[in-house]
Amino acid sequence: MFNISNLEISNSAVLAPMAGITDHPFRQICKSFGAGLVYTEFVSADGIIRENKKTLDMIKFDESERPIGVQIFGDDPEVVAGSAVYINKHFKPDIIDINYGCPVPKVTKRGAGSAALKDLCIMQDITEAVVESVFPTPVTVKMRTGWNADNVVSTKAGMLLESIGVKAIALHGRTTSQKFTGCADWTYIKELKEAVNIPVIGNGDVSSFEDYKKIKEFTNCDAVMIGRAALGNPWIFSNILNSNDKKPNIDEIKKVCLKHIELLIENKSEKVSLNLSKKHLSYYLKNFDQAGLFRKDVMRCDDIKQVIKIISSI
Ligand SMILES: Cc1cc2nc3c(=O)[nH]c(=O)nc-3n(C[C@H](O)[C@H](O)[C@H](O)COP(=O)(O)O)c2cc1C
Repeated sequence: MFNISNLEISNSAVLAPMAGITDHPFRQICKSFGAGLVYTEFVSADGIIRENKKTLDMIKFDESERPIGVQIFGDDPEVVAGSAVYINKHFKPDIIDINYGCPVPKVTKRGAGSAALKDLCIMQDITEAVVESVFPTPVTVKMRTGWNADNVVSTKAGMLLESIGVKAIALHGRTTSQKFTGCADWTYIKELKEAVNIPVIGNGDVSSFEDYKKIKEFTNCDAVMIGRAALGNPWIFSNILNSNDKKPNIDEIKKVCLKHIELLIENKSEKVSLNLSKKHLSYYLKNFDQAGLFRKDVMRCDDIKQVIKIISSI
């Protein structure tokens, strides 16, 4: 268990925000396997202010997903704070999270996402504006270690963020220029944990209970955020809760695939459900006998009912 401000979080396995992945169905699945805290994918502050329907749809969640954080990104303090106020009023999440980690050029070239790591004054202005405008809702930040290896700023930024009133920091142990290459450097997570008094959520390359144990021991972080390893593998959360690395059997995989498809159909149009089913099934259908054949069959489907039939036949 750990706390973010007054919010009690039942365990320290956190689902990472992932664009195009951590939508309402996937969050529900991870929650049902025990994720202590989940985040939405990042949503554009501009899109929220303009009340763009697609952007607002990304935020919708239901009570079973609590505690939940909504992650926002933007480059203008007034707009980002305005979007946070809007989200707070209309959705009432448990946490507002600011993204200072996205390395995608479309985002950083406008000064948003991890571009703020190049200029801590911008990070300070945006964060202050958000913290003030949504008080007492806790504001958390997710960031990378720095723009590049010569400019690692995570500890300095973390101390600044704590002084502004940020209630927890998730740190992905890579720089922006690394994107997803190399290994996450957990040393910076350890350094940040030693420097601040707010919870630190360690992130990067945790793909099993064994890794979870290692990162906790090495960094002393308060919680661990899991991204890619949860794709097609929500069992990682129950494994962490049960302190093992048990692999699901085929029946369990099949059951979760069907549940995931059902949630997609309930929440999305038929076309989107089909596309997202294919995306998620490409991760679920791995590491068992003939998984590749089932995966190929699913990819050829042009109707969600065909997908269900294939999965049911496993
Ligand atoms: C497909 C994908 C989408 C992502 N989208 C976001 C996002 O919207 N916001 C964010 O802060 N990080 C995002 N990330 C980064 C993850 O949250 C996480 O920091 C990163 O994957 C490292 O953790 P991992 O090694 O457990 O995957 C994304 C990562 C992936 C793979």
